[in-house]
Order: sequence, then structure tokens, then C-alpha cells
Amino acid sequence: MENEVFKVTGGSRLSGQVHVPGAKNSALKLMTASLLAAGTTQLENVPDIADVEIMAELLTRLGAQVNRDISNSTLEIKVPENIGHRADYDLVRRMRASINVLGPILARCHEVDVALPGGDEIGSRGVDMHIAGLTKMGAEFNSDHGYLIARAPKGLHGARIWLDIPSVGATENILTAAVLAKGETVIENAAREPEIVDLCLMLNKMGAQISGIGTNTISIIGVTKLTATTHEVVGDRIVAGTWAVAAAITQGEVTVTGVNPTHLQIPLEKLMSAGAQIEIANDSFTVRMTQRPNPVEIVTLPYPGFPTDLQPQFIVLNSIANGAAMVTENLFEARFRFTQELARLGADLQIDGHHCLVKGRLQLSAAPVEATDVRAGAALVLAGLIADGVTVVSGVSHIDRGYANFVSNLTSLGATIERTRESI
Ligand code: UD1
Repeated sequence: MENEVFKVTGGSRLSGQVHVPGAKNSALKLMTASLLAAGTTQLENVPDIADVEIMAELLTRLGAQVNRDISNSTLEIKVPENIGHRADYDLVRRMRASINVLGPILARCHEVDVALPGGDEIGSRGVDMHIAGLTKMGAEFNSDHGYLIARAPKGLHGARIWLDIPSVGATENILTAAVLAKGETVIENAAREPEIVDLCLMLNKMGAQISGIGTNTISIIGVTKLTATTHEVVGDRIVAGTWAVAAAITQGEVTVTGVNPTHLQIPLEKLMSAGAQIEIANDSFTVRMTQRPNPVEIVTLPYPGFPTDLQPQFIVLNSIANGAAMVTENLFEARFRFTQELARLGADLQIDGHHCLVKGRLQLSAAPVEATDVRAGAALVLAGLIADGVTVVSGVSHIDRGYANFVSNLTSLGATIERTRESI
């Protein structure tokens, strides 16, 4: 059997400029939001990543016609008057963000069947807030043969919804349902990630009436109809943050363009504490590092706190720092699973619940490792950049889910990396 791998030879200093595409976590939600209006939605600055393909397939099965032009990063989605209402398991299991069709389909069709992502049951931790919010708006939920089934025969109505924690997915599903509901919905303790702001901006262009955008209280006055629009996806702050860490750990100098640096305020401050010099411009920033990093304490929190999606990359930074630091993961405990792989590269890591104590080593030591999720995968490639020898990262399909042209971008910055096939 053959397996695609990245072979990374450590020791290069990264320098140059890299452009980040639109954010995965925005593009996917904007794609689902296109279902809210019959007509042609045009998305620009869409990243060339595997998850966009999966979402395009899902929309196609729902009756939309999706045309992707990779050469100019655009996506045209033609949505018919009547759309399907079922999201199949084979797609949902490949991409959890498929759950984001829940709000738009329920709003348009008043019925939706979405396969539950693996391990989830009705009312379980993963989607309980989505269900509670939509139930308050008049939907009735059941689960049947692995599918979450929602019906709102009388349509949805506005409601006051308090989220226990500011969940990104729950905020988005409630928002996309509320835009076509009768009356006013208020989401309190809403998530306010830049990708949610992007979604609200597109919805308002479509004719929605959303206020409180970017705050933790969002109010939505439902309208009867939305109109398809054109929208440019916000730059990917997580990809940008990944390049920033890559520059810092290789003691390089990299300018990252295509992102709003204010979306990365805390991670960039952490890099400064690690010893990096950062220059900020309007839609770009430069990271320059000339020393071994200082250790930096990290606590992940909903935006504007430190993003959990950059936690693995900062563990890599701490693994070669000149001291020890604690990294606390408050959103997804499973995110520490990748540390077992990082330990194979010689990193000194002690896990205790949702804390990881990282003791910096002078250098990591190359070994074969396996990517288990998109951010862990990127972090393991970064670790390979600072390991002695050739690190072979398998499971690259995870990295393809979120990073467009990862290898060619790294190569253009001076890294030695190739994508190849290996027998296993
Ligand atoms: C999104 C992002 C993901 C990011 C995360 C947090 C996408 C496709 N994914 O995921 O990259 O890491 O935000 O910034 O945009 N929770 C519940 N009940 C719910 C919903 C969530 O308990 O009903 C819990 C989750 O298990 C998790 C926490 O809340 O522990 C945060 O989840 P959430 O903000 O919803 O993340 P996602 O939208 O899944």
C-alpha cells in the first residue's frame, strides 16, 4: 500500500513573503449560507483546499450547481428555488463543518436531516447548543439511524438565546436560521471570531438585518427573503499564524500578506514575548527572529483569546525554547493527542488533563510521524523544519484539508520539503 508523505529536511531558515488565502473556517460557512437564497452566489478569495471540495459536493447533492475556478480563487454557487434537506453521513464524517447546513436548510425548507458526526448523539456535547438554540426558535429534534432530524412545520420564530459557551458552530447555525425566522432573535454569549463577522457581513449584503456584529450579543431581525450576493472571504488568520511560527522557530524573516493582523493580536504578542520582532501593516505583517525562542505560556480561549487552532504550532515553538512553559487547552482536550507524535521527535512534554508542560530542548530529532488532524499536521511539519535530519510526516490528507499549496509555499520560503509516496 502506498501512502502520501511530506519529507522535511530540518535546518533551513525561512525567508521571503507568503500570501495567505481566504479562511477555511469562513469559506465553508459562506458556502452553506449561499443555500439561504435562490440565485447565484459568487465567492472570491476561496482557498484551494480539500474541505472546500467536500462542501461543494455536499451543496451539489442538495441541488446546487457549484463551479470552481481555482486560477482566480472563485466559486460560483447556483442555488435552485427548491433545495434538498439531507446531508449524508459519507460527507459529514469527512468534514464536521457539514453540520453548518443545519441552520440554512432548516430556515429554507423547515426540515433537515443531517448525519451526526462520529461519536455524537442527540443532546451530546458536540451539538447540544445548536439543538437548544434552534429548539427555542420552534424546531423539533429527533435522532434516527445516526441522523439528526429537525422539523419546524410552522416555520421558525425569533427567540432570546443564551449560549453556555461561545460556540462558533452554534452561533453560526442559529444566525443562519434566524435571518429567515419570524421576528427578532438575540444570541447572547455569542462567539465573535472574525469568520463569524465575515458571515454576518455576507448575510447583511444578502438582505439580512443583523446588528451587534463582532460583539457577544448579536441580534437578528428575520426577513422573508434573501438575495444571492458576491463576497470576498476574509484572510485565514490560522494559516497566517502558522507561517508566523514557522518564521520564528527557524530564526527567519517572513512577511505574511492577505490577512488582517488585528485578527492575530494575541498570537503576535506571544511571538514578541518569545523574542520576535514584528512589523504590522494594514493587511500584512513581518516576523523576524534572531534568537532561540523564549518559552511562552499559552491559554486557549474563544476569540479574541488565543486560538486553539494555533496551540499545536506554539507547542512546537516551546519545544525548542530556552526554558519551560505551560500550555493550557480549554476547548478541545483531544488536541493534545498530537503531542505523542511530537515526543517522537524528542520534544519534552508532560500532559496533565488540559495542561501540557513543555520543556525546551536545543533541537528536535527527525523521525517518522503521523498527522492526526489539520493543525497537528501543520505543527508536525514545522517541527520537522527544526529537527536534525529528515522527518517523514504521513497523514498529509489532514494537512490538505486546511493548507493550500503548503509544500510549494514552504519551498519558496527556503525550506527543504517534498511531497512523495512511500510504501507502508
Ligand atoms: C470551530 C472551528 C475550529 C475551531 C473552533 C474553536 C470550523 C469549521 N471549525 O469549530 O477550527 O478550533 O471553532 O475556535 O469553523 N461545544 C459543545 N456543545 C455545542 C457546541 C460546541 O459543548 O453544541 C463545545 C465543543 O465540544 C468544544 C467547544 O464547545 O469543546 C468549542 O466548540 P465550537 O466553538 O462550537 O467549535 P466548532 O464550531 O466545532
